[in-house]
Amino acid sequence: MGTFLGFALTLSLLFCMAQGKVLFYDFLVKETPIKMLCETNRTILTVNGLFPGPEIRACKGDTIYVNVTNTGPYGITIHWHGVRQIRYPWSDGPEFITQCPIPSKSSFLQKIVLTEEEGTLWWHAHSDWSRATIHGPLIIMPAYGKMYPYKFDQEHTIVIAEWYTRDTKAIIDEALESGGDPDLSVAYTINGQPGDSYSCSNGSAYNKTVVRRKTYLFRIINSGMNEEMFFGIAKHNLTVVGMDGAYLKPLKTNYLMITPGQTMDVLVTANQTPGRYYMVFSPFVDTNAPSNKNVTQGIFQYNGNYNHSKTPIIPELPGFTNKSDAGNFTIQLRSLNSKEHPSNVPTKITRNITIAVSVNQQPCPANQTCTGPNDSMHSASLNNISFSAPAISILQAYYNNINGVYNRTFPDQPPTLFDFTGNVSALGEAANVTTEVLKIDYNDEVEIRFQGTNFGAAENHPMHLHGYSFYVVGMGDGNFSETEISKYNTVNPPYVNTVGLPKNGWAAIRFKADNPGVWFMHCHLERHSSWGMDAVLIVRDGKKKHQKVRPPPKDMPPCSVSSS
Ligand code: C2O
Ligand code: CU
Repeated sequence: MGTFLGFALTLSLLFCMAQGKVLFYDFLVKETPIKMLCETNRTILTVNGLFPGPEIRACKGDTIYVNVTNTGPYGITIHWHGVRQIRYPWSDGPEFITQCPIPSKSSFLQKIVLTEEEGTLWWHAHSDWSRATIHGPLIIMPAYGKMYPYKFDQEHTIVIAEWYTRDTKAIIDEALESGGDPDLSVAYTINGQPGDSYSCSNGSAYNKTVVRRKTYLFRIINSGMNEEMFFGIAKHNLTVVGMDGAYLKPLKTNYLMITPGQTMDVLVTANQTPGRYYMVFSPFVDTNAPSNKNVTQGIFQYNGNYNHSKTPIIPELPGFTNKSDAGNFTIQLRSLNSKEHPSNVPTKITRNITIAVSVNQQPCPANQTCTGPNDSMHSASLNNISFSAPAISILQAYYNNINGVYNRTFPDQPPTLFDFTGNVSALGEAANVTTEVLKIDYNDEVEIRFQGTNFGAAENHPMHLHGYSFYVVGMGDGNFSETEISKYNTVNPPYVNTVGLPKNGWAAIRFKADNPGVWFMHCHLERHSSWGMDAVLIVRDGKKKHQKVRPPPKDMPPCSVSSS
């Protein structure tokens, strides 16, 4: 009996044995002691005591209930990054957008409604900066009776994170108060391990033992806070076959670039001389803003007896500032667009939106000292609106028709036109700090053109949308021009939830507004999002019954209780 059960359990981790299952998980948010780098006395917030947090594994179309109990010192929320949550924004998680934080010493039963998602996604805290340590994988296997569109022998999940030496809530609270730069992370980690390029971390590097000629599926999640990363394994080719919970046309490469918020499924065949090879994540830094320029290395090591050198072989990765290598990788991505996984790119656009994406400065309030650039305060904006979160959730205000919580005047176009990526030094840098939403009709076919600007420290912005994946139909350097439309890829563009908007460039995305609700859209660089590089989309209900937001659960965290 014991053996049989064990066998059934192992098998169910690899294949889906039934259709539309309901799964239950318990998440206990708690303070957890941890040893990292040379720190001895450190406590972080984790889920179930784990860093990275526990993996959720489901099949396409399953429904997952996660009972989140918060025993930490302040309110938190959890978001299921990349899950569309069709008609059910109540469990989506961003604080003050779809819910108020789960207060300390209370629980919230969250429902994750899987539909079209298939591949690798993740979950993370979505309140202040607690996602630095509260995050983990969400893996969705093909539905019962379906196959992966590629072959592999074994799979491994790789979670990249950034390590801070202080409590991350204190870091962002102080930075927002002073207007200055938040602390930088001091290390990058692979599955919780900084690896042997850091002191006190020797011998504990992430180490993957592989068998010659076998093929491995690496599910890579960039849960880092503020940096895009290059990745490669010495001497080994990578084949990227999936991204953000959807399949890609296999792309062979020797390095990849992954932004915070993105996930990539990558096949690697152990087809080199048996030995030890470094797998390296190294930051892509295309800005003058301060950044953590360390790398993190794991080891890809062949099993068996062979003469291996002490130091593993190091891969050649693009240099930190190599914008063209970053761009050259990204523009090659295509969706699989097969019979079983077709692309459905909207082609009759009924709503066309352009969003200027800027890093700004706000003047220092009177009688205060500010530590931002030129004694100002850091700020960021979308269409010159620096998002300010309300005190109750926008979803609750919208659903219950409560007035005075947000305005509906987020503009469809930048309020002023200028040479966005040119010399902007003569223009004022302050944006309006308000709470605006962008209302979209049900079933609109939406195009959003993100336009980077040259204000402040320009850089790549991983723009992320909740409630939807979208097709990236085009991207390029400089200012967008209408002549680009004829060059759009409407056949097999990648279908993703996060697009890396190139520094001083543009990106055009398309989606059909078939998911009513309140959906957050923001830069997935945490410091930009904290500075206001956020917007809220409200997709109206459709006319039919099954086109409306479902009613809320009874245990929504209350908004009256203070979260801190
Ligand atoms: Cu990864 Cu707003 O989320
Ligand atoms: Cu950004």
